Parts: sequence; C-alpha cells; structure tokens
Amino acid sequence: MRIAVLSAEAVPYSKTGGLGDVAGALPKALKRIGEDSVLITPLYRQTKPEYLSHLAIDDLWVNWRGTSYRARVFYSEANGSPTFLIDAPEYFHRDSLYGYAEDYERFAFFNHAALVLIERIGAPPDIIHLNDWHCGFAAVEIASKRLWDDYWRNSRTVFSIHNLAYQGAFSAEELWKFGFSSEFARNAFLLNGHASAMKAGLAVSDILSTVSPRYSYEIQTPEEGYGLDGLLRQRSNRLIGITNGVDYDVWNPAADPVLPAQYNAQDLSGKLDCKKALLEQFSLPVDLEKPVFASITRLTSQKGIDLMMQTAGEILATGAYIVSLGSGAKEYEDFWQNLRDYAPRQVGVYRGYNEDLAHLIEAGADMFMMPSRFEPCGLNQMYSLRYGTIPIVRAVGGLDDTVENFDRVRNTGNGFKFSEYEADKFLEKIYEALFAYHESDAWRRLQRNGMTIDNSWENAARKYVKLYEMAKK
Ligand code: ADP
Ligand code: GLC
Repeated sequence: MRIAVLSAEAVPYSKTGGLGDVAGALPKALKRIGEDSVLITPLYRQTKPEYLSHLAIDDLWVNWRGTSYRARVFYSEANGSPTFLIDAPEYFHRDSLYGYAEDYERFAFFNHAALVLIERIGAPPDIIHLNDWHCGFAAVEIASKRLWDDYWRNSRTVFSIHNLAYQGAFSAEELWKFGFSSEFARNAFLLNGHASAMKAGLAVSDILSTVSPRYSYEIQTPEEGYGLDGLLRQRSNRLIGITNGVDYDVWNPAADPVLPAQYNAQDLSGKLDCKKALLEQFSLPVDLEKPVFASITRLTSQKGIDLMMQTAGEILATGAYIVSLGSGAKEYEDFWQNLRDYAPRQVGVYRGYNEDLAHLIEAGADMFMMPSRFEPCGLNQMYSLRYGTIPIVRAVGGLDDTVENFDRVRNTGNGFKFSEYEADKFLEKIYEALFAYHESDAWRRLQRNGMTIDNSWENAARKYVKLYEMAKK
C-alpha cells in the first residue's frame, strides 16, 4: 500500500510531545513491515539542518489565499522513512512550533501544500493518514476532491486523535479564504457557530482512530468528548483504538548512548550507575538506598500535576527523592521551584525541555508518576516500563491499557494504578510502591515484568495496516 502520513510534528525533525514521537516512528515501522510509506511535515526553525538530506523541490507552487505561494521541499530519511519537509518560512520559522493566533491558517496551509506535493511526487496514495486537528483540513479537501478529481478518487483517509482537548477552533468567516466555501466543507467544519479543524477531520475521514482502545470509549462520553462525543458515537463503527508503540531504537536501556551505563532485564546493575549520575546531575546527595520518584511532562492540568502537588510533602516525609523535568503553566513551574527551595537535598528540578535528561531520568529513577486527569495514550509510562522504572498512574486512557497493577501473590503486573482523581488514592499507591521497593525480590520481579513487555511499533504498525485495509473497503 502507498501511505502518506501527515503530521504537524515528527521526531527527529520537531517535537513538543508524544505526537512527535508517534509521527516519527510509525512511518519507519510501516516501512519495516514492507509498506510504502512517506511522512510529510513542516520544516520549522527548530528543525536541525543536519537532518535534511537535500532540497527536493525548489518551486512547489501552492495556490493560497488568492495568490501563488512558492514553497520549497526538503528530503530526509533521518527518521528511517522517506520524509518530505515543507519549507514555508513565513508560516513555520518561528520561536515555537505552536501558540500563535493564526495557527489554524498555518496548518491549513501545511495541509494544502502537502496535497499539492503528493500530486507532484507520483501516483496517488491509497491512504492518507492524518493526525490531530492540524490535519483536519486535508480530510475535507480530499473528501471534496474525490468527487471530481480522478487523481484522488481511490484515496482513503484515516484520522488519528491524539488529543481531543485541542480542536483548532477559528472563526467560520475564515473558511472561504482557504477554499472551503462549499456547503459540504462548511458543514464539515461547523461546530457551535465556529469552525473546528478537529471536528472536520472526525466528520469526513473514512476511518477514525485513537491512540489507545480505552480512550476511544472515553471520548464517546459527554465528560471526555469536548462537545464531539455525539459525532463520535454516531461514527463509533468507524472508530478504533490502537495503542502507540515505543521506538526501541531510541528508548532502550541496553543501547542508550546517553546513559553512563547500559543495562537490561537480566542484568540491572547498570541502573544503579544511572541513578548515581542522575542524583549528581541534580546536585543531590548520593544515597542509592533511597528511592527516586520522577516526573517528565508538559506542565498542564491534563497531567494531574495538582495530585503531585498534594502528595509531594508526604513523599518527601518518607525520605525519598523527587525529580521533575518539564515546563508549562506558571503555577506548576512555581510549585516545582518552591518544592526544591523547601527541600534542596531531596528535590531536583529542571524547568524546560531536555531530551538527554529525559533519558537519564527514565534510567536513573525508581518510580515514575503519571496521575493524569486524562491520557489518550501516554508514552512515558511505556518508556519507564522498558527502563525498569515502575509507573504509578491513574487508570485512564492509555495508562489503563498499558499498566497492570502489581499482584504480589501471583507476582504479576508491572506498576501501580488508581482510579478516582483523588490525592489519597494516589498516595495509597505511592505507599504500596514504597513497600514493594523495600522488598528487593518483589521489586526485581516488578521491574522484569515491565522490561520484558513488547510494546514495539512493529505490532502497532500491523494493526494500522489492518485499519488501512478497512478504509479501502
Ligand atoms: P504528551 O504527548 O501528552 O505530552 P506523552 O507521554 O505521549 O504525552 O509524550 C510526551 C513526550 O514528550 C515523551 O517523549 C516525553 O519524554 C517528552 N517530554 C515531555 N516533556 C519533556 C521535557 N520537558 N523534556 C524532554 N522531553 C519531554
Ligand atoms: C497526545 C496525548 C498523549 C499521547 C500522544 C501521542 O499528546 O496527550 O497521551 O501519548 O498524543 O499519541
């Protein structure tokens, strides 16, 4: 099958969160299992030039808002699959990837340019795999063109929801500027009087998917549906959850070049060296007996930071360390800074984005906290599993699908999870984890159970291929 994957971010070219990890890894995995897949993504100021192999197209003429825009296209295989990066400096050479009032216009442009590019580079794809609201525009353009343009007649769209909370809303008055003036197109976008790129993708794509099975059910309820649950229920026979994979080329403690020592499920001794390096990195006293609790995340309310705020005092009272890597909302950044000032010998904080540090934390920590309010999939708990770092999570979305409670009688399970969004429930699991930590046999078992799970992308990619086949029917 010919598959084109479109994404607003993709590792290693750009990343703000899990979407980047997924969009970088899936096309590579598809390629590995024999599919003909290409990735199309914007070229940002943040994209490192060393990842670009060559200029593929110098003059991609894109009809845009009444004029002809000349974009360039670079080629790369740095993520392990053929990739085309659309270079439109006016839209993408900025201080950050997102966060501009006209983001909807930037990604509407990206979508349209991507389709112009697809037409230019060869035969029509069987599947165009679209990701999150940034790609809702292409879903509508393809659905419209299919009716009269032979090139697109047999192409089918798969639209993956990574996070329904971000919907790409904008004024419906703008639609005609992007060529969406037909009744079909307007209806696709319209949601409560404004235009929503997410809604458009959900309304017209041939198949919908989410990044874990549980999330596909959660978003069909009014509580988690962000106003789109009705539409999702209507289309539930076309909606399927596929749990994200882990790119073990990047996240593997047995070969991770960032770590001072490598280790695996049979021999975990190197993990202690990593713990020592981690404590040193944060200028904390090195006491390898004491457990390290970790958090790596965007600091938004999605991630359950307030539960961490309410339990941090109790964790510290047990003598444990806490390390945090992240940036985001000021109140959460302030919380972590204040916690460090309060207990500088137990708390390590890095405010910002740092990939190498993320690897060192995964390896050096003992427990990973992820008490999310909602979590479409979550990748860090899966990275933690592979690194022998025990996840303590809330049983929602992909966290529920990937973490199994430790059962000390049967020695099964790989972590700890609780249900109600309450600090007491989280704390119970923290104490349970601490109890297990001090029993080295139980802890080893728990670590090995997690480290030997196969969450590879190859498995997930095969499920996507089935989905693509369904879309073609
Ligand atoms: P989300 O996409 O909602 O942010 P995920 O768990 O799916 O959550 O993915 C988050 C990804 O972003 C992981 O690869 C994680 O390591 C990375 N990440 C988040 N914050 C940081 C940070 N401050 N520095 C480095 N990596 C980060
Ligand atoms: C989103 C979700 C996260 C998921 C990621 C990749 O950012 O918040 O749960 O893992 O997308 O699919």
